[in-house]
Amino acid sequence: INGKQKNIVWHDCPVTKSDRQELIKQKGCVIWITGLSGSGKSSLACALSRALHNRGKLSYILDGDNVRHGLNSDLSFEAEDRAENIRRVGEVAKLFADAGIICIASLISPYRRERAACRALLPEGDFIEVFMDVPLHVCEARDPKGLYKRARAGKIKGFTGVDDPYEPPLDCEMVIQNNRDEGLSSSSSSSSLCEMAEIVV
Ligand code: PPS
Repeated sequence: INGKQKNIVWHDCPVTKSDRQELIKQKGCVIWITGLSGSGKSSLACALSRALHNRGKLSYILDGDNVRHGLNSDLSFEAEDRAENIRRVGEVAKLFADAGIICIASLISPYRRERAACRALLPEGDFIEVFMDVPLHVCEARDPKGLYKRARAGKIKGFTGVDDPYEPPLDCEMVIQNNRDEGLSSSSSSSSLCEMAEIVV
């Protein structure tokens, strides 16, 4: 609660988180995928969601690009707005997990402090941070949306990795080195992640 909030009181519902989990026979959690643009976050998120679905597990993806079309359409790529973007997605992810759903958040989320704040919203063990550890030159060579080219040409200011910072995780649950030019080996990465998620859920 920030300083603007006054006179609000938390209201509990008799249908609890464990009631919901019992109903859908799974436990919610957050799988947070961080990395540079072009590192394969969205591909991994989709492959993981498919793998979980095939195993009868309900998941939902919060993808940075997509969330910025709606909930976060008022936010820019300035540092303060990126922090707010991450904060809001962290809060929404927490609600999904509370609903019993495996929430896969796929955002650049370049700042350690904000990722740590999202982690702190969840019970211990329910936040799985996955780092797409792909060198900038590999992401730039892929450039699936042509954004690195535009950033290098000065047409996009403050592009992550080019003229805006990315802080890699120092300690996270999983590191995926997705260096191959042809794209993500999503099936092997997603199945190991799937196994990790199944330990939690
Ligand atoms: S952040 O940093 O977490 O708030 O970013 P995110 O919400 O994940 O959005 C990243 C996608 O926005 C596009 N884009 C940019 N990325 C980085 N820097 C700048 N300046 C920028 N402008 C637009 C880009 O397509 C990112 O998508 P991904 O999927 O990461 O390639």
